[in-house]
Amino acid sequence: MLVLGLESSCDETAAALVEDGVRVRGDAVASQVAVHAEWGGVVPEIASRHHVMNLVPVMETALARAGARLDDVDGIAVTRGPGLVGALLVGVQAAKAIAWARGLPLVGVNHLEGHLSAVWLDGARGPGFPHLALLVSGGHSELVIARDHGVYELLGATRDDAAGEAFDKVGKMLGLGYPAGPTIDKLAQTGDPKAFTLPRPMRGRGLDFSFSGMKTAVLTIVQRQGVPAGQALADLCASFQASVVEQLVRKTRAALELHGMKQLQVAGGVAANRGLREAVAALCAERGVELFVPSPARCTDNAAMIAAAGYWRLLRGERADLSLNATASLPLST
Ligand code: KG4
Ligand code: ZN
Repeated sequence: MLVLGLESSCDETAAALVEDGVRVRGDAVASQVAVHAEWGGVVPEIASRHHVMNLVPVMETALARAGARLDDVDGIAVTRGPGLVGALLVGVQAAKAIAWARGLPLVGVNHLEGHLSAVWLDGARGPGFPHLALLVSGGHSELVIARDHGVYELLGATRDDAAGEAFDKVGKMLGLGYPAGPTIDKLAQTGDPKAFTLPRPMRGRGLDFSFSGMKTAVLTIVQRQGVPAGQALADLCASFQASVVEQLVRKTRAALELHGMKQLQVAGGVAANRGLREAVAALCAERGVELFVPSPARCTDNAAMIAAAGYWRLLRGERADLSLNATASLPLST
């Protein structure tokens, strides 16, 4: 089954054609990073306008890369939430229009479910069910048990900032541009993670996360000493990244133990972080747990993951009608 996936929940306009939920035939992403960079974050209204301009060209590029035409498409999957409602609406309206005009089955996909479906793309052997998933993105940080495609049990979530959001806010304080996760990741490679002592919060607090304390700790350092440069900047990035990774790994370890899980997947934009990838690999090696992480390009927002998630829903006979709407706040298992 060839599924056309559309994604427009935040600042990436993306389209992809995926065969049977695993084989990416064509994939295109138009990033608005440069557009929003001067504002230091995503401006919702500007994002919506760029989605309107980018969606059709991105879809045409994905079809061309796949060597396919709309006639070859068997179904459409579109992100229906969570995200910026105006941005989401662009994808949802486009998907409804194509589905109606072509008489194609349509399904709305939860963006987070998309992230959790990226692990099966590109012919990779993915995890079985149930498995533990650590989902860390710009908007969410969650530990969930994946019981099946589309069936999840939430174990813990952030009580304040998402991990990626903390990376971005700290990066902004350090003048590293937006989004700052990849820059902090790079600088951290040459920094000393023990140079600055940052908080290690949420000990003994179940499986929830909190990242705002370490963000405030960085702010205090910057207010006292100014924005560091050179080696000191790399050291601060390494210290901040280490404290985020330490908490993510500590909670993941606790969830693996508590639920006796033998497979773990790590998904979402922050799963591209080298420090996190190394730390979860070490955790899994130590505990005899099998680890699955999508390639870095499939960790950040893309439409192949939406097509993949949509495939399983279409296969189960799920169909959205033209009342399909965008929802800004959408928990994972609904
Ligand atoms: O999943 P994603 O592309 O979008 C959302 O659904 O939010 O995640 C974007 C987030 C941003 O906060 C970005 O800074 C972060 O992922 N990110 C990283 C890295 N690459 C992207 N954070 C840390 N290290 C990275 N290498
Ligand atoms: Zn995302």
